[in-house]
Amino acid sequence: MDFIKKLEVNTFHPFFEKALNEMLEAGGKRFRPKLLLAVVKAYNPLLIENAKYAAFSVELIHTYSLIHDDLPSMDNASLRRGHPTLHVTYDEAHAILIGDALNTYAFEILSKMPAHNDVKIELIKVLAEAAGYKGMVLGQAIDLYFENKKLNLEQLKELHLNKTAKMIAASLKMGAIIVNKPDLANKLYEFGLKLGILFQIQDDLLDLKDESETGKTTGVDKNKNTFVTLLGEKKAKEEADKLANELKKELDEFDDNLKKELGEILDKYFFRHRT
Ligand code: IPE
Ligand code: IPE
Ligand code: MG
Ligand code: MG
Ligand code: MG
Repeated sequence: MDFIKKLEVNTFHPFFEKALNEMLEAGGKRFRPKLLLAVVKAYNPLLIENAKYAAFSVELIHTYSLIHDDLPSMDNASLRRGHPTLHVTYDEAHAILIGDALNTYAFEILSKMPAHNDVKIELIKVLAEAAGYKGMVLGQAIDLYFENKKLNLEQLKELHLNKTAKMIAASLKMGAIIVNKPDLANKLYEFGLKLGILFQIQDDLLDLKDESETGKTTGVDKNKNTFVTLLGEKKAKEEADKLANELKKELDEFDDNLKKELGEILDKYFFRHRT
């Protein structure tokens, strides 16, 4: 993925640079940046090179969120993207700090994107809102506070919307902002929220699988609120089927070029929970 650029640090700290890059380089599906780039490719392939700055920013925020999500005080996970988590390899303080560094670097890189300032400010706003106190961070707070306390289904949906769906919706919306399509930006945001709920239900199902298959620590959601813990595996899969079928129909109503570009990514994901 050539939009991921190694972060270079001039320091006498013995492992800071290595730790900073480790989780970014470890891989991952790159789902969010791929969505962003697909929208840009559908409407203005000439802007792809510039859009890679935004794609990188989204992946930086996501990677930071995973590093913090795995901390002992959060999900306490030792494996991520097939590698030991940073707090295991180094220590907790460095895992917190590397997360912080990736978070702030996301906005640095966006500010350096070759684009009009008004476009960049809009991108910064959309990303900050999705990642911050009215998005991912709030979702994580709800997720953790309500461990061992049962939520109702409406609250569970709100948890997933904040924790996961807003970042996915924002990624699509950022693509539409880059190609200057405000109406599409709003439509894609709504589509992305639903896609994000589906993505999190599928992720919740991964917790039932083996670590060798997922590359991350599993079996840790038992006391959490997920579609699997609240409804059971069968109903969670049925809920995912329902969302996937609705999303497929909605995708069919987009322009042909967008349908093609997004379809290439999403066809692998719609029924991921059945594999
Ligand atoms: C995992 O995200 C955390 C969620 C928000 C569900 P991904 O499944 O996209 O993780 P990577 O990026 O592929 O590692
Ligand atoms: C994490 O959700 C969502 C984030 C905002 C990082 P999970 O805790 O379910 O993600 P995994 O299963 O550890 O990847
Ligand atoms: Mg978590
Ligand atoms: Mg987790
Ligand atoms: Mg999970």
